[in-house]
Amino acid sequence: MKEQILHELNKKEFVSGEKLAKNLNVSRTAIWKQIKSLKQLGYEIETLKNKGYRLISSPDKPIQSEIKQNLKTKIIGTRIEYKKSVFSTNLIAKDYATKKISEGTVVVAEKQTKGRGRKQRQWHSPEGGLWFSVVLYPNLTPGDGILVTMAASVSVADAIQKSTGLIPEIKWPNDVLINGKKVCGILTEFDAEMDRINYVVVGVGINVNNDISKDISKIAVSLKQLTSSKVSRVNLLKSILTKFDEMYNYILSGNFKYVRDSWSTFANIIGKKIKVTGERNDIEGYVTDVDEHGCIIVETPEKKIRVLSGDVTYL
Ligand code: BTN
Repeated sequence: MKEQILHELNKKEFVSGEKLAKNLNVSRTAIWKQIKSLKQLGYEIETLKNKGYRLISSPDKPIQSEIKQNLKTKIIGTRIEYKKSVFSTNLIAKDYATKKISEGTVVVAEKQTKGRGRKQRQWHSPEGGLWFSVVLYPNLTPGDGILVTMAASVSVADAIQKSTGLIPEIKWPNDVLINGKKVCGILTEFDAEMDRINYVVVGVGINVNNDISKDISKIAVSLKQLTSSKVSRVNLLKSILTKFDEMYNYILSGNFKYVRDSWSTFANIIGKKIKVTGERNDIEGYVTDVDEHGCIIVETPEKKIRVLSGDVTYL
């Protein structure tokens, strides 16, 4: 009901409780209760006796009623669950996935107290950032699952560019960097069998308006620092979900090329000299290609090596 009330209020004119009640086929008391709850969520709503309600301002909170306004996605974001504080949105999303929650559900949190990064690292997730996970059940083989992560990083880069005008770069495998510093990390977790994926949870963490702690300030940056002003998390998330939905539908219809090409446009890694720090050893060489599974081909003086994972340093 909140979404419908907000739809009316977003016209930024007075609307009477009577009209709202009639349109939504509920009592005026029910409307009054919803208005009260919207105010508690941070909406500033003016109330005048003979005129009704008028929206003054909305909070920049990624709550369902905000995100769903004019969101025209087919799968991703059809359901939004907003949480104030969680250990990790990926943990919640994985639990939901095992229970077969509807595809495209987004779990988004104001803050995470045990945010998780790749390679069992900790992920700082204080208030002001955008921390969310998407539950998907793509009909893909595990080898093609990487395309979903690639699509997520392209969507983030594209949305940041559109919202801020900044020029992001994707650093292999899927970090989003601006001026060499990390603004977004992605942690994708799968459950799969030999030939099919049961679920994919794509966890996205973006430093938007949050503070960056001193110990990571050399490698990480927020959009607020880069633009010197607050960036709307609501608009950013809507833009990401819209692009991600478009790309996910391309993947489902077998158009993998579109995803790889878009990824390559932002990644710009081919031809670069890099060092990959892996679990067991380091590899130094030139990147000659990114294959259809998202692996990089690194040419060392001795041979060509196909690299599946690792941390990249540009040399
Ligand atoms: C990385 O190491 O670069 C990946 C970081 C991923 C962080 C996001 S924040 C939302 C989701 N929940 C988590 O616990 N992690 C991911």
